[in-house]
Amino acid sequence: MSASDPPLPFEPFKTKVVERIPNPTRRQREAALERAGFNLFSLKSDEVRIDLLTDSGTGAMSDRQWGAMMVGDETYAGSRNFAHFEAKVHDITGFPYIVPAHQGRAAEHLLFSTLVHPGQIVPNNMHFDTTQAHVVHAGGTAVNLAGAEAYDAVSDYPFKGNVDTVALEKLLTVEGKERVPLVMVTITNNTGGGQPVSLSNFTETVHVAHSHGIPVYVDMCRWAENAYFVREREPGMGSKTIAEVGRSFFDLADGATMSAKKDGLVNIGGFVAVRDAELAERLKAGLILFEGFPTYGGLARRDLEAMTVGLEEGMDLEYLEYRIGQIRYLGALLDRKGVPFLHPPGGHAIYLDVDRFLPHLKEEDLPGQALSVELYREGGVRTVEVGSIMFPAGSQTQRPLELVRLAIPRRVYSASHLAYVADVVGRVYDRRASIRGLTMTYRPERLPHFTARYAPKKA
Ligand code: F0G
Repeated sequence: MSASDPPLPFEPFKTKVVERIPNPTRRQREAALERAGFNLFSLKSDEVRIDLLTDSGTGAMSDRQWGAMMVGDETYAGSRNFAHFEAKVHDITGFPYIVPAHQGRAAEHLLFSTLVHPGQIVPNNMHFDTTQAHVVHAGGTAVNLAGAEAYDAVSDYPFKGNVDTVALEKLLTVEGKERVPLVMVTITNNTGGGQPVSLSNFTETVHVAHSHGIPVYVDMCRWAENAYFVREREPGMGSKTIAEVGRSFFDLADGATMSAKKDGLVNIGGFVAVRDAELAERLKAGLILFEGFPTYGGLARRDLEAMTVGLEEGMDLEYLEYRIGQIRYLGALLDRKGVPFLHPPGGHAIYLDVDRFLPHLKEEDLPGQALSVELYREGGVRTVEVGSIMFPAGSQTQRPLELVRLAIPRRVYSASHLAYVADVVGRVYDRRASIRGLTMTYRPERLPHFTARYAPKKA
């Protein structure tokens, strides 16, 4: 076996600033788990060795981005940083009206509180937790319409993010545009394993929605990673640039929301972009009420400038090759240990398949949470459950896959860190038969995974 088997992702950058990685002892980790009520969201960063909780806002900015922060024009109205940002988002998406927001859920709040009324339905391939919560907050119902492949953890189907367009047609025929104010498509499908949506499926989805007079919005957090997969896997797309693939999607759509904390390569930022002038005015009215003036949207102007540069860097093919290569590298190491995870590896994370990892635990044992607790206990690796706690029974049209997500922050960890993670997961896998479940001792009303508390089940 050569040193490059599995292939090592080449990091297309070198290090200029470093941050020390904490190294909590086992005793400290045990104490931290007790204090945190076995909820990894309650850990302090000093208690975490490798943080794979999220890829959102956890990336490293480039020297160009830090340089951009220094040319912040902190004018309340009409900042030149907004002009740069607006031009960049317009260039990427083609949408004429750009409304900045401090992060994705602020964008969702603006869009859904403007478009969704009580009793209405919002279909999506799969809602992310905050997206779903904002539909519900507006009085609507979130319906997931990903195809059957999305629920098969073993299949290597190349576009598991695809919408079931037959089911969409059925739903829209029954409900009509009075009850369905918009259709969302999330690229990539985070809840379903960071899996891509094909251009042909998106085209069909838009065709179905538009034939019912219903607009389509893209949740474009990870659009560049999606474009990478489309370029690689969809016939005829290999010669296009990431920007061209992106435009092939956006040109069909009516608007988009983005948490730029993902493919925008910033620690904070987002936006809504739309085609409709009248809707843009209504969004801006909401923006002024909740976020700030339309030329800053709840951000410092320097943040807008960092986002302008980050959005550009996020489309770089060499960067994306490394990015997707990292996820595949971790996947290949886990495959060698026989660790079950959702195939194929997604764009931003590996998702452990809890049903196959801990087959002896039942749903009421909270197996996903139990597994993420063990990964932390074993090696200080912080992950997140994406399963029946994040999406409680009844909140989704279909039972979600029971997953534990190992989200890889952008440009942060090296291949040796990923090898460490694979070792930790492998050690937990070796002692999996002895892992017991958890009970929830405190359940908050909304978005329970963030603040719930747990206790270990006794033998
Ligand atoms: N949409 C998707 C698909 C997301 O993954 C997220 C965030 C959001 C919207 C909301 O964006 O956090 O900026 O408000 N996902 C993060 C995650 C939190 O860990 O997957 P936000």
